[in-house]
Order: sequence, then structure tokens, then C-alpha cells
Amino acid sequence: AFVVTENCIKCKYTDCVEVCPVDCFYEGPNFLVIHPDECIDCALCEPECPAEAIFAEDELPDSQRQFIALNAELAEKWPVITEKKDPPEDAEEWDGKPGKLAHLKR
Ligand code: SF4
Ligand code: F3S
Repeated sequence: AFVVTENCIKCKYTDCVEVCPVDCFYEGPNFLVIHPDECIDCALCEPECPAEAIFAEDELPDSQRQFIALNAELAEKWPVITEKKDPPEDAEEWDGKPGKLAHLKR
């Protein structure tokens, strides 16, 4: 499956959800996740993310491996999102900042 990683947190551009053919993105307060059992590995979302936060599971940087479990866990909890919405006003300021996992709201 594809995995949403740390740089989505507080950026949440939502371009990704528009292209997903199986609607497997789930939305939390400041982050999105992919449901690993629903993703069909089509790879359409990966180039759509302005924050470059989406990776194929087997191409994840080591520092982001914990996001495999986090996507699986949170996809069960959060509601599905299928339409793009405005990002947070300060999304650009947060793009690329380190340590964003500490800001994840569940
Ligand atoms: Fe959806 Fe395809 Fe991205 Fe999986 S790889 S989350 S199926 S767009
Ligand atoms: Fe997040 Fe990128 Fe989608 S920032 S909401 S994974 S477009």
C-alpha cells in the first residue's frame, strides 16, 4: 500500500484525495492517512502531493517507517475524505519542517 508520511501533518493539501479511484483516504484534524487494505497501489496520488508526503510502502525512508502502523490505525478511526478542501492557512510555513509528528492531532 501507499503511505502518508510526516510532512502531510499541518500541510494537508488534500490534492491526493481527488485522484484516488477507491476513495481510501481518511481525514483527521491535521493529517490524512491511507487505508492499507483498501489501497490498490495505483500510484496516482504520489505525484499529486505538493508536500511529497506519499510513498510506496517499499520506498519509505527509514525515518518514516512508523507511519505504516499509524496509517493502518488511524484509517480505522477517521472518516473518509473524497473531495479536496482548502489547506490550513499556514500550510506553506509548515511544509518541510522537521519534527511534525509531535503536532499530530488524533
Ligand atoms: Fe488511492 Fe492509488 Fe494512492 Fe492507493 S496508490 S491511496 S489506491 S490513489
Ligand atoms: Fe497530505 Fe499531501 Fe494529501 S499534504 S493531504 S498527502 S496532498
